[in-house]
Amino acid sequence: MRIEDAKILVALPDLGVDRLEDASLSEHTSLGIGGTTDLLLIKRHASIPQLVRMLDAAGYAFKFLGGGSNVLIRDGELPWVMLHLVKPDPEVRLEGNFTYVDAAADLGRTVTFCAKNNLGGMDGLIGVPGTVGGALRMNAGAYGIQIGTYVREVELYRAETRSLVTLRGAEIRFEYRHTSFAHDDIMLAVKLELPSKPFKEILDGIRICNEKRRSSQPLNQKSAGCIFKNPPGVSAGRMLDELGLKSFHVGDARVSDRHANFFVNAGNATAAQMLSLIDTVRERVRNSYGITLEEEVIIWK
Ligand code: EPU
Repeated sequence: MRIEDAKILVALPDLGVDRLEDASLSEHTSLGIGGTTDLLLIKRHASIPQLVRMLDAAGYAFKFLGGGSNVLIRDGELPWVMLHLVKPDPEVRLEGNFTYVDAAADLGRTVTFCAKNNLGGMDGLIGVPGTVGGALRMNAGAYGIQIGTYVREVELYRAETRSLVTLRGAEIRFEYRHTSFAHDDIMLAVKLELPSKPFKEILDGIRICNEKRRSSQPLNQKSAGCIFKNPPGVSAGRMLDELGLKSFHVGDARVSDRHANFFVNAGNATAAQMLSLIDTVRERVRNSYGITLEEEVIIWK
């Protein structure tokens, strides 16, 4: 969707917003898939309410894109403008065991920065791609660790009330790959409380997780991580593997031959191919196991 409203175009610089015209979102997602639209890069959180008011008034639909590492975006010209928060400098600020992190900060870099300052807890999250905001929204987890455990406060933009809101950790429910945030809440910043731990010990934990990840996940291929959530007590990847689905593909959308719950873009996969692969695989699992897999990846179609 292209912004043509002159009032908005004139106001953007004052709001601290850069516009990338007709951006291809395939360049902004880890899957390398996604259609085209105007991408608005927001440098100041405080501008969001006014920006959204203007988009609303002019009738432009919009969505917020985080790190692009857990999303499957449809092909073609998109029916929404895409908003994206630009990383501030510094992304992370420490005060004792409290860590204040901007939602646009890279999750891996944040874990490393905290580790270097002898703050642990999030070691298992080191290889999870994407931003801190994306991790928060999904309650990202790996190797027995979930980010929600450490959250003490979240600043967000609440689309429903069109306002900036601060929530205490106790007001938010963090479950397996699910949180009580509204689907259109936009994460802006978080306060974490992390346990003290010597850097060397954290580093040992990080090395072990990295090694496990490297040996079991297709890290050098374009993917959005795991496509399906694990049903209670079962590994979706193992089920797909048992069904012989590794390397099964629709065009260039392919089930990884390394970890069957990772679907990779092996060339020029389209969203339509990826969606067809997801549906076909889900159907196969339903027929064989009587389980309906739920997507872990966010789908915008
Ligand atoms: N397995 C297979 N074949 C496969 C994949 C897995 O047999 O193709 C077996 C493994 O050998 C293992 C079991 O299934 O015995 C579980 O596999 P793994 O340890 O890889 O864990 P997972 O349940 O498949 C989850 C998360 C990952 C996270 C890992 C490590 C979900 C959907 N996935 O995977 O998260 O990195 O544990 O903690 O919860 C993600 O969220 O995108 C993601 C990749």
